[in-house]
Amino acid sequence: MFHSFTSHQGFPQLLGYVRSSLCSARIAIRLLWLYCFIFLAVATLLGVRMHLTSYLSAALYGLPTLALDTTTSSAPDLSVDPFKIYTITAENITAKLIPYGARLTSLLVPDREGNEQDVAVGYDDPKDYLKDTQTDHTFFGAVVGRYANRIKNGTFVVEGEQYEIPKSENNGTDTLHGGNVGYDQRNWTVTAQSSSSITFTLSDCGLENFPGDVITHAMFSVDSDVTPENPKGLPQLTTKLVSLALTETTPIMMSNHIYWNLNAFKETNVLKDTFLQLPLSKRLVGTDGILIPDGTILGVDSYKGAADFTKGKLVGKDIESAAGLCGTNCTGYDNCFIVDRNTSCGANNAMVPILRMNSSTTGISLEVTSNQQAVQIYSCNGQKGNIPIKPSQAKRNKEEGIEGAKNINKYGCIVIEPEGWIDGINNPKWGQLSDQIYSPAGAPAVNWATYKFGTV
Ligand SMILES: *[C@@H]1O[C@H](CO)[C@@H](O)[C@H](O)[C@H]1NC(C)=O
Ligand SMILES: *[C@@H]1O[C@H](CO)[C@@H](O)[C@H](O)[C@H]1NC(C)=O
Ligand SMILES: *[C@@H]1O[C@H](CO)[C@@H](O)[C@H](O)[C@H]1NC(C)=O
Ligand SMILES: *[C@@H]1O[C@H](CO)[C@@H](O)[C@H](O)[C@H]1NC(C)=O
Ligand SMILES: *[C@@H]1O[C@H](CO)[C@@H](O)[C@H](O)[C@H]1NC(C)=O
Ligand SMILES: *[C@@H]1O[C@H](CO)[C@@H](O)[C@H](O)[C@H]1NC(C)=O
Ligand SMILES: *[C@@H]1O[C@H](CO)[C@@H](O)[C@H](O)[C@H]1NC(C)=O
Repeated sequence: MFHSFTSHQGFPQLLGYVRSSLCSARIAIRLLWLYCFIFLAVATLLGVRMHLTSYLSAALYGLPTLALDTTTSSAPDLSVDPFKIYTITAENITAKLIPYGARLTSLLVPDREGNEQDVAVGYDDPKDYLKDTQTDHTFFGAVVGRYANRIKNGTFVVEGEQYEIPKSENNGTDTLHGGNVGYDQRNWTVTAQSSSSITFTLSDCGLENFPGDVITHAMFSVDSDVTPENPKGLPQLTTKLVSLALTETTPIMMSNHIYWNLNAFKETNVLKDTFLQLPLSKRLVGTDGILIPDGTILGVDSYKGAADFTKGKLVGKDIESAAGLCGTNCTGYDNCFIVDRNTSCGANNAMVPILRMNSSTTGISLEVTSNQQAVQIYSCNGQKGNIPIKPSQAKRNKEEGIEGAKNINKYGCIVIEPEGWIDGINNPKWGQLSDQIYSPAGAPAVNWATYKFGTV
């Protein structure tokens, strides 16, 4: 499966990015990306096969030099503490991230009273994420890769060759989120930083038996700028996961794995106060009893319409009809909802609103815009109430005189993973290979999403 630059989605996006970079005031970070993209574009167009070390040195050492507001020297600090908290802020939005898993650990936005609330699920103490990996392995807030979600039998075929990767789930039946040690467990390098953005970089040298080397830049930024896409200047988080196959043709499917709770644990769960809309999702990927895609595509009218969020409804409205939808003996959502764009008025990878959510408790609303072909929604069916909410969240609720949840309960959160059609690499009939298989001669894989917050 080869990618030609002209046919691939990445190219127009790249041009658009270059254009928007030139007319932006936030030049430091944009310059950095501009630099990165021009470098790639030139190299790719010339058909240059970059040698890993030369690219790596450019990417790892060149990028921070161009971040004008970086306070340190040009070489990144490779010995950086993976649990160091990096805080990025803009008007009415503050995010905290750590290098371990390029992970979002906190996101503060105002509720309808104007009080800050942390709507991201996780831990206050960053070291708890390491413990979590060894116990519950929730993937709270992490970037997942090289290939998100499940790969049937842990095998796939690329260019006629079968690859076998670690079968990390269900007693060696399938692969979940990239193998035994996925990107969520990697200690990413901080390659650029400003007061409102941070870039983590991971160089994956054939890890977990995937073919070839891949470098990924995970960029996070916050802003409340008034733009045509954000006319009200609402606070928003932007994530861009840009991955390059450097040496071989390989599957790439990156995603963010952020658990959200817009009621900030002021309720026992999200069933009765959280409204969810998936406006473009009339179909979902069918799965077997252990959530491995079985090759079928379901309409959202199956399960008595439990999966139909096209017009939006409370998360709990039809959840009883979702018995079995999230696997054997499971009631709830853990499904890959397909994003069907209106292609008569835009590219197949255009940034479109794929999800809206709001909480009647806090009044906080969220709109997610993405360039991806699907979105995995997990309604925390597997949470058992064994993990306490963050002490900082509990403190805030106590100060407000609200009892709220003590623990992360069953149905106590919603995970939103913008990504491709899961296991598309083993289902070529779906026609998703051009979005999931990448070669050194082609464009980078770009997973771009914005999370825009408001109040209702
Ligand atoms: C920030 O949030 C406060 C409280 O919700 C609001 O009054 C204010 O207008 C917001 N600022 C901007 C620039 O939107
Ligand atoms: C399943 O994986 C095994 C290796 O663990 C491989 O030999 C076999 O071909 C795979 N089966 C299919 C159907 O791909
Ligand atoms: C995995 O194997 C263990 C021990 O053999 C067993 O107790 C468990 O039920 C199995 N789990 C699954 C999902 O098959
Ligand atoms: C990341 O760093 C932590 C803390 O040093 C370490 O325990 C962990 O093994 C590292 N992860 C990997 C994949 O090396
Ligand atoms: C599903 O639940 C039934 C009834 O509780 C139980 O007998 C069965 O073992 C469960 N199946 C699995 C796969 O957990
Ligand atoms: C798609 O967009 C076109 C052009 O804006 C519009 O005429 C058409 O009604 C849209 N179709 C759907 C299904 O929304
Ligand atoms: C949440 O959004 C939906 C759709 O925009 C709207 O119908 C609903 O009233 C909102 N909920 C609240 C509490 O405002």
